[in-house]
Amino acid sequence: MVSDRFSPISWKTGELTLLDQRSLPRKKTFLKITTSNETISAIREMAVRGAPAIAITGVFGLALGAKSKSGEVSPNDLKNLLASVMESRPTAVNLSYALKEAEDRVKHSLNWEEVSVIWEKLALELMQNDLSDNLSLGKNGLSLFSESKDEIHIVTHCNTGALATAGHGTALGVIRSLRDAGKKVIVYADETRPFLQGSRLTVFEMMEEGIECYIITDGMSGWLFNNRKIDAVLVGCDRVAANGDTANKIGTYTLAISAKQHGVPFYVCATKDSFDLKLETGSQIPIEMRREEEVTRFDFLKDGNGEIFVPEGMTAPVGARALNPSFDITPSSFIKNFITEFGCFPPGEIKTRLKK
Ligand code: MRU
Repeated sequence: MVSDRFSPISWKTGELTLLDQRSLPRKKTFLKITTSNETISAIREMAVRGAPAIAITGVFGLALGAKSKSGEVSPNDLKNLLASVMESRPTAVNLSYALKEAEDRVKHSLNWEEVSVIWEKLALELMQNDLSDNLSLGKNGLSLFSESKDEIHIVTHCNTGALATAGHGTALGVIRSLRDAGKKVIVYADETRPFLQGSRLTVFEMMEEGIECYIITDGMSGWLFNNRKIDAVLVGCDRVAANGDTANKIGTYTLAISAKQHGVPFYVCATKDSFDLKLETGSQIPIEMRREEEVTRFDFLKDGNGEIFVPEGMTAPVGARALNPSFDITPSSFIKNFITEFGCFPPGEIKTRLKK
C-alpha cells in the first residue's frame, strides 16, 4: 500500500512544492519554489532530506534554473548550474548520479527551453523509478523475515520512509511491506540527534499508519538489545563503497557496534543509486559537517516562516562548542546483508551484483 499522505515533493511545470520537513510533526507547511537557488537552500537547510528525495529535488531545481534562462545554452552556464546544485549536500551519492544523468541528457541540446523540458522529464522519471525500486526492495526484504512467526521487533535509525524518498521508503519500506504482508511489526526508532529525523519523522510516519512504534534516544540501543528480543536493525544509506563500507546518518555506526555485540543482524537497505563503486572503502566518502548550533540548541529548527520547532531551546551552556558530523561510516564487517531492489546479499557480493 503506497500512501500519498507523506509526499515530500510535488511538481507542476515551473513550480516545485516541498513539504517543509523542519516543521513536522507540529504542522504541515509547504514551500513553493520557483528558482534553482531556492531549491539549493531548501536542500542545504534540510527542508527536504533523505538521499533519494534530495536527488529528485536537485533535478527539479535544475529544470527551474534552465527555465529562468533563455536562448542558446552556454556550456559554462550549464556547468555552473550543475555545480551549484551538486554543492548543496555532499555525502549522498544519489545526487551526483542524478546530476550526471542530467548532464548526459542535454549533451546535444541547443536552447534552455529544451533543456528545462528534458530535466523536468528526468526528475519525474527519477520519482517513478525510486518508488518502484522501493516497492521491490520492500518485497525482497520479506524473505529475511520468513521464519519470524509472531511479532517482528525492528530497530531503525533516522528517517528512510516516504518522506525521504518518492514513496514507501527503504528501511521503512521493508517495515511497510512486512505490515502489508500481514506481519505484526514493532518498531524502535532512534531519536536521531541532532535533527531528530527519528522522533519527528519516522515516528510520525509510523503513527499515521498505525504501526506500533517506540522512540529510543540514540544511546539506548545497548539497553534495548539486552532487555527486548530484537529481530533486526534496518537502516538506509547515503553512499556505499565497493567494499560495503556504508555512510548513513550519524549514530548508525554506534548502533551497528551495539547490534554486533548482541548478535542482532544489521541490514542496510539500499537502491542501486546508493552504491559508489568508484570508492574502494568508506574512508573516501565525504562526510558533511554541519553547524554547531544544531547540537547546542533545539531552536535551530525553524520552518520557512521562521517558526521555531522548540522555543527557548538551549541544550548547552552559551558558547559551548560542539562537533556535528552529519554522517558516519559503518564498516562492512558489521553488515549482514544489503537489501536492494535486485535482491539481498552480503557486502562481499557487491561488485558482482552491481556489474551491469
Ligand atoms: O541528513 P538526512 O536526513 O538527509 O539523512 C538521511 C539518511 O541518512 C537516510 O538514512 C538516507 O538518506 C537514506 S533515505 C532512504
